[in-house]
Amino acid sequence: MDLGLRGKHAIVTGGSLGIGKAIARELAREGADVAIVARTKDRLEAAAKELSGETGRRIIPLAADVTSREQVEAMVAQAATQLGGVHILVNSGSAPGGSTTATGPIETVVDEDLLQDFNVKYVGALRCARAVIPYMKEQRWGRIINISGTNARNAGNLSGGARNTSLVHLSKTLALQVGKYGITVNCVHPGITRTERTPRLLAARAKELGIAPEEVERRDYAEDSPRGNAIGRMVDATEVAYVTVFLASDKAWAVSGELIVATGGAGRAVYY
Ligand SMILES: NC(=O)c1ccc[n+]([C@@H]2O[C@H](COP(=O)([O-])OP(=O)(O)OC[C@H]3O[C@@H](n4cnc5c(N)ncnc54)[C@H](OP(=O)(O)O)[C@@H]3O)[C@@H](O)[C@H]2O)c1
Repeated sequence: MDLGLRGKHAIVTGGSLGIGKAIARELAREGADVAIVARTKDRLEAAAKELSGETGRRIIPLAADVTSREQVEAMVAQAATQLGGVHILVNSGSAPGGSTTATGPIETVVDEDLLQDFNVKYVGALRCARAVIPYMKEQRWGRIINISGTNARNAGNLSGGARNTSLVHLSKTLALQVGKYGITVNCVHPGITRTERTPRLLAARAKELGIAPEEVERRDYAEDSPRGNAIGRMVDATEVAYVTVFLASDKAWAVSGELIVATGGAGRAVYY
């Protein structure tokens, strides 16, 4: 299937690392030119060099903090000028999990950290969407994909879970506002996903449990483990990217305002 992404122009926030970087790579492999966005300049520039070397597409590093409306608007204007327009926005610019000081119990939640978590993930996605929509409206074609997370569905995290739920709401609301201009908006829920930080996290848990990192992973994905999923292994960031790239494509008109779960089948609840 030709996804129709050749010659399209994309912005991926969080494109220097993790899920965002994997998405930028797969968009470029499908023929899109991509502006990748993050705060840390040297990592961003290294990622752009690596991805353009691998894919032969233009990968433009644009440093910006999504908590600043001014920086977001300048970044989008620059991306549009350098790429020649913006067709696709992927919002993945946020650290996973939320601040540890904002996760609960409620007595210990630091209000400022909770607000900052929402400022990055929810308002950050909103700021980026608001800045790209005029370009998408003009060309009457656009795709916005918000990378959220399945802790939206698991009560217990007052910050990470709540901000993820808010992104689902944003996606549906925006989809209804901009669908008439040829723009679709969707949300992707990754679960625990293999990224650059996974070896460090597995090593820390292995040390805590006094077992090897491979054993931690094997236990997590054993059939009876509550942390596991239907496919019995951790999903890789590239596999979240495949789902996202489809939603960004010209073949995805039928899906808007929706939530796609990319966990390899985690959990037992039936959603209908
Ligand atoms: N990995 C998982 O297991 C998992 C599971 C469920 C959901 N998710 C969600 O997926 C998204 C990406 O997670 P990830 O694992 O890919 O994270 P990651 O590897 O830590 O990468 C985060 C990216 O976002 C950038 N970023 C962070 N804050 C930013 C800001 N204020 N402005 C601009 N860029 C910013 C980071 O670069 P700088 O720090 O240089 O800015 C980096 O490029 C997050 O929303 C996360 O909650 C991840």
